[in-house]
Amino acid sequence: MQDRYGHRISYLRVSITDRCNERCTYCMPQELQEWLPREEILTYEETLRLIRIAAELGVSKLRITGGEPLTRRDVVHFVKQIPEIHGIRSVGFSTNGTLLARQITAGKTMASTLRDAGVQSVNISLDTLDPAVYSQITGRDFHAQVLNGIDAAIAAGFDQIKLNTVLMRSRNEDQLLPLIEFAAARSLVLRFIEMMPVSTTEVLNENNFISVLEAKRLIESAYGSLIAETEFRTNGPATYYQIPGRAQRIGFIGAMTNLHFCENCNKLRLTCDGKLRPCLGSYLEFDIMRPLRAGASDEQLKQFFLDVVERKPREHDFRNNYQPNRKMIAIGG
Ligand SMILES: C[S@@+](CC[C@H](N)C(=O)[O-])C[C@H]1O[C@@H](n2cnc3c(N)ncnc32)[C@H](O)[C@@H]1O
Ligand code: SF4
Repeated sequence: MQDRYGHRISYLRVSITDRCNERCTYCMPQELQEWLPREEILTYEETLRLIRIAAELGVSKLRITGGEPLTRRDVVHFVKQIPEIHGIRSVGFSTNGTLLARQITAGKTMASTLRDAGVQSVNISLDTLDPAVYSQITGRDFHAQVLNGIDAAIAAGFDQIKLNTVLMRSRNEDQLLPLIEFAAARSLVLRFIEMMPVSTTEVLNENNFISVLEAKRLIESAYGSLIAETEFRTNGPATYYQIPGRAQRIGFIGAMTNLHFCENCNKLRLTCDGKLRPCLGSYLEFDIMRPLRAGASDEQLKQFFLDVVERKPREHDFRNNYQPNRKMIAIGG
């Protein structure tokens, strides 16, 4: 699948739920959250069919996300079926980490169960090492659980574990160096993410935004000039650097300030309520659940995918006074 601007689509990000056990300030609106009713959520069978169709069109990499994907019932049963789909070579999860250490069967954590089911990588969100600040950001006291979740992921032996930190002034700029040391001690890749205006309420403003450039300068003042790793790519939008004198790699995701951010975009998103979104930072979304439930053939659904890709924008709209119409939790980060 290729769009008008030469983006080749090989990566599908699949949100399986809009629900979450946390309430991060930048993701979830503060007003009372109403979850989507179950009948408006794609069943696992429907999701698997769409993944198979996407794979037939050239998608080889999947990331399962949400909401918090590990809160959805029978998620392991679902995940086990993905590696059986011809063409899918890589399955990853994005998670807040709170449930990774949960015991699923005797001696098996959620993390090791996912690993056994064929999941190769996990991205775990961790914005701070300070439990009190963690609670302020996420609305929950799950910091210790997340740290246990990270340990469980390490013990499970995933090919890759990344930690994701959203940059927030007055919240976690003092945490960048401690987080780097935390990641180094565990040989994990750490990535710093610029906050994006993705929510129904205004989450991003001039006072709380920290650019990746500012974060990089802050880090360089402690460690010296970071060494660009121009050859290293993970199929995603991060740019990676090495810390001088260490084998440690850190990444920056500068959706707001990196003008080349969208050039190599290879991604399409499927929301849990069956919308295909060609770009996170654009209003465009197309309801594939309707034809799916109306009995469309595989060929018709394939054409639907191709039509959506055809309408993928050149770049996101975040810098042009983008007014979010959907909260991040309902799109799938
Ligand atoms: C929406 S979450 C879904 C997966 C999982 N619940 C988690 O927290 O990792 C995926 C990623 O999006 C990030 N995120 C959410 N809202 C964001 C925002 N407004 N700007 C930047 N990143 C955001 C989260 O920090 C997380 O790393
Ligand atoms: S960022 Fe993840 S953990 Fe936080 S509210 Fe959003 S979906 Fe939940």
